[in-house]
Amino acid sequence: MTGVVYFVGGGPGDPELLTLKAKRVIDSADVIIFTGSLLRESLFRDTKPGVAIHDSAGLHLEEIIALMVSAARDGRVVARVHSGDPTIFGAIHEQMVALEREGVRYEIIPGVSSVFAAAAALRTELTVPEVAQTVILTRTAGRTPMPNGEQLHDLARHGATIALYLSAQLIAQAARELRVGYPADTPVAVVANASLPDQQIVRGTLDDIAALVKAAGIRAQAIILVGPALDPAIKRTAAARKSRLYDRTFTHSFRQGVRDAE
Ligand SMILES: C[S@@+](CC[C@H](N)C(=O)[O-])C[C@H]1O[C@@H](n2cnc3c(N)ncnc32)[C@H](O)[C@@H]1O
Repeated sequence: MTGVVYFVGGGPGDPELLTLKAKRVIDSADVIIFTGSLLRESLFRDTKPGVAIHDSAGLHLEEIIALMVSAARDGRVVARVHSGDPTIFGAIHEQMVALEREGVRYEIIPGVSSVFAAAAALRTELTVPEVAQTVILTRTAGRTPMPNGEQLHDLARHGATIALYLSAQLIAQAARELRVGYPADTPVAVVANASLPDQQIVRGTLDDIAALVKAAGIRAQAIILVGPALDPAIKRTAAARKSRLYDRTFTHSFRQGVRDAE
């Protein structure tokens, strides 16, 4: 019998933000390989007796593949647990290519990406009507270069909500690049360790956020959210920002709109 590898979305950290399916797979796995640099062992409280748990932080790709392939060939179930959602900066592409080459079956189980835990912590909608209807999930160029047309100064031209992963240490560079397209007073919020007990929130503008984040001592595991939708004052102007979806006069396939009296 051949086993299977599940790429599991481990969520942003709070064990209650695991999906039911992710929890079921983790708890029934024979082998767990998790990104220990981002996830905490509290996710693995109810695992099967005898499960082998490996932290991938100290392993290189070939070692991770070897663990997965040999377990699957022994007919075991492997949970390869990534933080947030595995398809966003999860480095799963190279793992899937290797598993296909080895003829090992795999599936992906989605998870709550840290951007959504950050937005929840801020009590913010990332797509406020008439303010921002587009969210760009990206990063600042570091050791991984950005493809043509995806530099922050290119993306800044859209004025959309931008979420930056992997960028806490590069926040001064990011803010500088984003100022090409956004005004210097554009609101920015940084959430470190979103959903975890040591969660930290710093708010500012493109002008001062780098200094504020440095003063707060945030160096990693943070999401940076930029754009007019992040303005904390926006709820005070809510009357002008209603979505069409729940407008009483708006008809759609599940509800007949009410005609206003003339
Ligand atoms: C390798 S990427 C993985 C992203 C992950 N797949 C996701 O969907 O959230 C790591 C980056 O995710 C972000 N991150 C992960 N967990 C986080 C958390 N609990 N709070 C804030 N940011 C987090 C940080 O930007 C970090 O640098």
